[in-house]
Amino acid sequence: MVTSIDEWDRVLGGGLVPGSLVMVGGEPGIGKSTLLLQVAHLLAKRYGKILYVTSEESLRQTKLRAERLGTIEGEIYLLAETNIEVIISQVDSLKPKVVIIDSIQTMYLDSIQTAPGSVSQLRECAARFLRLAKDNGPAIILIGHVTKEGILAGPKVLEHLVDSVLYLEGERYQAYRILRAAKNRFGSTNELGVFEMGGFGLQQVNNPSAILLAERPSGTAGSSVVACLEGTRPILMEIQALVSQTAFGNPRRLSTGIDLNRILLLSAVLEKRAGLPLSGYDVYLNVTGGIAINEPAADLAVCLAIASSLKDKPLEANTLVLGEVGLAGEVRAVTQIERRIEEALRLGFTRFIIPDGNKKSLGDQNFEIHGVRLVTEALELGLV
Ligand code: TYD
Ligand code: MG
Repeated sequence: MVTSIDEWDRVLGGGLVPGSLVMVGGEPGIGKSTLLLQVAHLLAKRYGKILYVTSEESLRQTKLRAERLGTIEGEIYLLAETNIEVIISQVDSLKPKVVIIDSIQTMYLDSIQTAPGSVSQLRECAARFLRLAKDNGPAIILIGHVTKEGILAGPKVLEHLVDSVLYLEGERYQAYRILRAAKNRFGSTNELGVFEMGGFGLQQVNNPSAILLAERPSGTAGSSVVACLEGTRPILMEIQALVSQTAFGNPRRLSTGIDLNRILLLSAVLEKRAGLPLSGYDVYLNVTGGIAINEPAADLAVCLAIASSLKDKPLEANTLVLGEVGLAGEVRAVTQIERRIEEALRLGFTRFIIPDGNKKSLGDQNFEIHGVRLVTEALELGLV
C-alpha cells in the first residue's frame, strides 16, 4: 500500500505490506505522530478505513492537529484507548486496512501484572498485535519512543518480533528528519528518507543534496563536501571544521554528526603523517543539516576540512573528496564510487579527489579526477 510520500514508501521497500507489523521509533517530539497522521490520511484516501489509536494525546488534540495538517478528510477513525482487548474488538467490528498504535509504550494487557511500558508488557502487547496482523488482519504500525538513556525499555526489545523497524531521527531543533529502516523483511535496510519539519507537518525532501549544500559559503576555509551513501542513495553533505589555537594547553575536539573517536584518530594521523601541528589547536567539526555520517568514506573530506581551516586556505572550487584514511596516512578505496560521483556531477562538481584504488575502476572520464594514495597528496591537491 503506497502513500504519495515517496520517502516513506521507499524506506518501507516500496510501500506497506498488508498484514505486516511495522514499528516506527524515535525520540519524543521528533515528529512520529505527525508523520503517521499524514501517512494515515494518504492511506485512507486510497485504501479505505484506517484506525488511529491515540493514547498519548486526547481525541480533541489529535483532531485539531489533523485539521492543522490538512489531513482530516478520508475515513480515519480515532480511538483513545490503551487496553488492547478493547482495541482488538474495535478492529474486529471496524475492519480497517491499517491500524496505527500511538504509542506501544502506553498499551497494556490485563493478563500481565506489570505496568504499561515495562518490558514484559511491551513484549506481550507487540506479540498480541502480531497475531492480530498475521491472522488475516490489518497492517499494524506501532509507534515507540526511544529515549537517549532507556533504549532498552523501548523499541529495541521488539525489533526481533516485528517485520520492519523504522527510526525517525534528527536534531529536535533543526528542521531535517531522517527516516531509516533498521530492519525490513520486505525490502532493503539502510534505506533513508529525508523530511523537513515545517508549519504543515513533515514535507518530503526529494533532492536532499541540493538543500544540504544550498547555504554552503563559497571560498571559505574549513569546508569540504563528501558524497555519503545512505541506503541505495548517495547524498552530498558539507563538513565544516574550525581549528583555533588552544587557549589552555589541553586541546579540545568537538564534533556533531561524526563520531568523536574518528576525529581524534584523524587528527592524530594528520599530526603524525602530514605534520600538521594540531596538538596546539582545538578542532570543532560539524556536519550541516543535523545529519550524522557514519561512513569511513568521509575521512578524507574531514581531513581536508581540518587542514583547510588550520591553514586558512579554502578548498579548490567544485571539488569533491572521497576516501577512507588509515593510520599510516594511506587513502583507502570506498564502495560504489560511480554512484557517488554521479550524484556530485549532477550537482555541478567537476573535480574529484578519490582513492587511487578507485580510480582504475572508473576508466577515462571527461572530468578532472585525481587518484591519491596518501593523505598528504590529497592535501596538496585539495587546498588552493
Ligand atoms: P510529534 O509528531 O508530536 O512528535 P512525536 O510524536 O514523535 O513525539 O511532533 C512534535 C513536534 O513537531 C512539536 O514540537 C511541534 C512540531 N510540529 C511542527 O513543527 N509542525 C507541525 O505541523 C506539527 C504538527 C508539529
Ligand atoms: Mg506522539
